[in-house]
Amino acid sequence: MLEITDLVRGTVAPEQLRRLQLQRLRTTLQRAYDDVEHYRRAWDLAGVRPQDCSMLQDLSRFPFTTKADLRDNYPFGMFAVPREDVVRLHASSGTTGRPTVVGYTSADLDVWAEVVARSIWAAGGRPGDVCHVAYGYGLFTGGLGAHYGAERLGCTVVPVSGGMTERQVQLIVDFAPRIIMVTPSYFLAILDQMDRQGIDPRGTSLDIGIFGAEPWTADMRREIESRTSMHAVDIYGLSEVIGPGVSQESVETKDGLHVWEDHFYPEVIDPITGEVLPDGERGELVFTSLTKEAMPVVRYRTRDLTRLLPGTAYPAFRRMEKVTGRTDDMMIVRGVNVFPTQVEEQILRVDGLSPHYLCVLTRPGRMDELTVRVEATVSPDDHRRDELREQLARRVKDSVGVTVDVEVLDPDGLERSLGKAKRIEDKRGAGG
Ligand code: DLL
Repeated sequence: MLEITDLVRGTVAPEQLRRLQLQRLRTTLQRAYDDVEHYRRAWDLAGVRPQDCSMLQDLSRFPFTTKADLRDNYPFGMFAVPREDVVRLHASSGTTGRPTVVGYTSADLDVWAEVVARSIWAAGGRPGDVCHVAYGYGLFTGGLGAHYGAERLGCTVVPVSGGMTERQVQLIVDFAPRIIMVTPSYFLAILDQMDRQGIDPRGTSLDIGIFGAEPWTADMRREIESRTSMHAVDIYGLSEVIGPGVSQESVETKDGLHVWEDHFYPEVIDPITGEVLPDGERGELVFTSLTKEAMPVVRYRTRDLTRLLPGTAYPAFRRMEKVTGRTDDMMIVRGVNVFPTQVEEQILRVDGLSPHYLCVLTRPGRMDELTVRVEATVSPDDHRRDELREQLARRVKDSVGVTVDVEVLDPDGLERSLGKAKRIEDKRGAGG
C-alpha cells in the first residue's frame, strides 16, 4: 500500500503506478469473474474474459456496470466474498425503489481509512488536529468514512453527525477543531447559525473545510472562504466505489481533485456512445476498483460529469475537474441543458442573494419551465425584491441562455438540509 509519506516525498513514479494498476486490475477482473455471477454472465454475453486484459486500455472491452445492476442484485448479489467475511454494510438511499447496498471486508475498511487519511492530509490536515465530522453517520458513507480516515491520520475526531445546528456551533466553539468535514450546503447553515448567535466565523479555530458529497462551485468556495478564515477544499467519492476519499483536492493547489489511482481506476466516457474519451475531454466518469474485496466494481458508471487532467500537487495521480453536474441532474429547459450549479454561480454573483436555492421544474404546457427559488440575504422590500429577481433572471439568460422565473424569498424561506442539499424539485407530471 502506498503510504502518505510516499505522496509527500513524491516518490511515486507514474510508470510504477501504471504497473501497479495493471497488476491489480487483472486480479480484480479475475476475482469478479470467478466470484460474482453478474460479471460472469455479462462478460460471457459480451465475449470477454479477464485474460483479455493485457494492458490498461483493454479495460474498455468490458461492459459497464450501472446502478440498475446493483439494484437487480439487491441486497448481496454483487458480493465476491461469503457474507460472513463482510464486516460492514452501507447503503445509499436512492430516490426510487430499493437502495443500493455496498459491503466491506476488514481489508476494505483498511484501504478506505487509508485513502481518507491521505485525503485529509492533502487537504492540509495533520496528526494531532481536532476534526469535527458533521457528515451524517449511519448507512450513508460520509460520517463513518470521514471518521475512520481522520482517526487513521491521528486526528482527535469529534463524531457529531448532521443536525442540531446550534449544538454544532457550540461544539466548534468549545472543542476548537482545526478541520471540519461536512457538506458545503450544511456548512452554510452552520455559518448562518453562527451569525444568529453573534459569533464571527473568522474568530473560530476552523482552518480547513473538507466539503463534498454534493456538487459545489468555485463561486461557493469564494463565498465560504470570504466569510471565514478557512481553506475550502473538495472531497469526492461514492458508496459504490468505496465512499468519500476516491479523490481529493490539494490545499496547496485547489485545482481539482487528485484521484487515488492506486485503488480506483478512472475513465471518462461519452455518456451517449459509451466510448472512452481522451484525458482532457469532458464526459461521464467511470470507475473500476483495484483493491476492493467484498464488492469489486468494474467500469461503474457514476453519472458524474468531469474530465481528467494531469496531476499537479501529486504528479503521479491524475486530477478530475470539480464535478459540477450529474447526467441525471441535467434539466432541459426549452431545449437548453441547465445544471443547478450554473444557476448557483449566477446567484453568488448577485449582491443581496444567498446561496440557499432550489430549482423547481414545471410543465404548464408542452415545455418545461424552470423557476429558481432563492433567498435574499436580508428581507427585501418589494422594489428591492423586483431588482434582485430581474438581476438574477438576466444573468441566467446571458450566461446559460435560458429564460427562468425567479422567486426571491426572505432569509430562511427554504428548508435546510442536514446533508446533501436538494437542488431540484420536479413538479412535472404532478399537475405542475
Ligand atoms: O456522497 C460519498 C461522500 C461522502 C463523498 C462525503 C464526499 C464526502 P453517495 O451518497 O453514494 O456517496 O453519493 C455519491 O455524490 O456520485 C456525486 O454525484 C456526488 N458527490 C460526492 N462527492 C462530490 C463532490 C457520497 N465533491 C454521489 N462534488 C456522487 C460533486 C459529489 N458531487
